[in-house]
Parts: sequence; C-alpha cells; structure tokens
Amino acid sequence: MNPRKALISAAGLCLSLSVAAIAGTIGFSQIGFESTWRTAETESIKSAAVDRGIKLLFSDAQGKQENQIKAIRSFVAQKVDGIILAPIVETGWEPVLREVRKARIPLVLVDRGIRVSDPSLYATLIASDFVFEGREAAKWLAKKMSGRGTIVELQGIPGAAPAIDRKKGFEEVLKKYPRMSVLRSQTGNFNRTDGKQVMEAFLKAEGRNINALFAHNDAMALGAISAIEEAGMKPGTDIIIVSIDGMKEAFEAMVAGRLNCTVECNPLLGPLVIGAMEKAIAGEKLPKWIKQVDGVFPKESAASMIGTRKY
Ligand code: AHR
Repeated sequence: MNPRKALISAAGLCLSLSVAAIAGTIGFSQIGFESTWRTAETESIKSAAVDRGIKLLFSDAQGKQENQIKAIRSFVAQKVDGIILAPIVETGWEPVLREVRKARIPLVLVDRGIRVSDPSLYATLIASDFVFEGREAAKWLAKKMSGRGTIVELQGIPGAAPAIDRKKGFEEVLKKYPRMSVLRSQTGNFNRTDGKQVMEAFLKAEGRNINALFAHNDAMALGAISAIEEAGMKPGTDIIIVSIDGMKEAFEAMVAGRLNCTVECNPLLGPLVIGAMEKAIAGEKLPKWIKQVDGVFPKESAASMIGTRKY
C-alpha cells in the first residue's frame, strides 16, 4: 500500500474507533408528559440519539421524583455509558448522583437545574435562564399596563427550578412598580387542566378585579384562557396575559387575540444534549451551564413569526 493511502486508512480507522467509543447506550430520565412542550423535548433528544447511532433507554417518571431516582439506579445497574436527567425538582438528588459518580457514568442535566453541594456530580446543565424569562415577562407586562394594575400568577410545579426562578425574576422587576400588585399566586403544576381549574378559582374569588395574568408556562395560560372565556370575559382584552415557552399553540392564541405575549423557552435541545454527552463520555470538561438564548414575542409579532415555530 502506498504511504499516502496507508495514512488515509489509518485516519479513517481512528475516526471510526472514536465514534464507536462514543456511540453506546445512554439512559434518559424524563419528568413525564405534562405538556406538548415536554413532548417536543423528548422527541428532540430521541431523534438526536438516533442520528448519532446511540441506543437510548427512555424512562417516563410520570411526574414523580422517586420514579426518576429508580430509573437512574436501573441505568447504573445496566452499566450505561451516560445518563441524561430532566429533573422534576431542584433538591433531593445528591445520594443517587453520588452512586452515578461512583460508577463513573457522566450525567448531563437537561432543561432544569438542581441544587447540590458538589457541582462535580454532573457534567453540565443545558437549559434556559428562567430568572431572565421571569424578568422579561414582568418588564413586558409593566410596559403594557403603564406600571399599574392587578395580577394573578399561575406558578409551575412547586420546587421546580423554572417555577422558583421565573417567580424570582418576575418579583424582582415588579418591585420597581409599587402600583402593580399580585392579588393571588398558586401552582397550576405546569399543565393545562390545573391552569384552568386554578384560574376558575381566581376568577371566582376576584371577579373583574383581575387586570392581568402571569402564567409560568403556555400550557397553563391556554387552560386559563378557557376559564376566562367560560366566565364571559375576553382573554387578551379584559385580562392581559403573558406566559412562557413560545409554543406554536401560544402563537395561534396570540394571532386570535386571546394571549398577549409569550417569552420563549426552547425545548429542542436534542443535538446539544447528545453532543455534550459525547464530549463528557470522551472525558472532555464542559462548562457547568450551557445557557439557551430566548426571545420575547408579543402579540404584534405573532402573525409574521408563527410560520417559524417548530414546537
Ligand atoms: O423546565 C422547563 C419548563 O418545564 C417549561 O417551561 C414547561 O413548559 C415545562 O413544564
């Protein structure tokens, strides 16, 4: 064989060896299916794994942290090459993550952060900045309401990073507007059904005193929109609504004038997550937070942007 050909085939062999070393089995513990946002995230991760020839063991925790912990332990027992975790809440992960580290399995967090005393328990977090999202929602609302009015808030799952941080960012900005006040704030568990039920209770208690709604995600806002309509009011007009996620359905509601603004939170993280996992398996050190950049979409931009929405 001529030396040039030998060099090329050696390089090819190295490349296939490194790909073979990376492609393997990865466990993915997902929270559940509380909205189409989460379905979009799951599909994005599944299809990115297929693209890279990775076998993905998928586990749906049905909204329970204990199921996520069981799934992680089962992935460790099966000796997977890496674990992806979308953690339902921020706390309670330390013991199981120590077991993962002891087994020398890299763990990538997706879409929600956790609180641990030792950050080396995970390789990286790939997620949006939820405090930023809460701040952007409040800034937009303050402008729309000219700095005065009453608000009700639908919070996400108690203890979940997006619920804690979105509330924090929202309140931080609201402090600058003493004539804006939150009348009621309660969890709608990030899902449409609970969002509707809690909004019904808000309306029963406050009636037409409510000027605006801040929903921690689009799914709850869409549920609340139905409650407002059933109460004989016009969502988007009688009650100004700002929510978070940027789902196509939220854009449709904005085009119909039933929602006023959505702050983006991108769930299409599959290629990034799988890419980061491959690097972690190869022993590369990753930044602790690979932050997603999100946009703010008021109703006025909905008609021109709706065609670009992918989830
Ligand atoms: O962690 C991201 C949040 O979780 C999304 O905003 C929401 O829709 C989901 O439930």
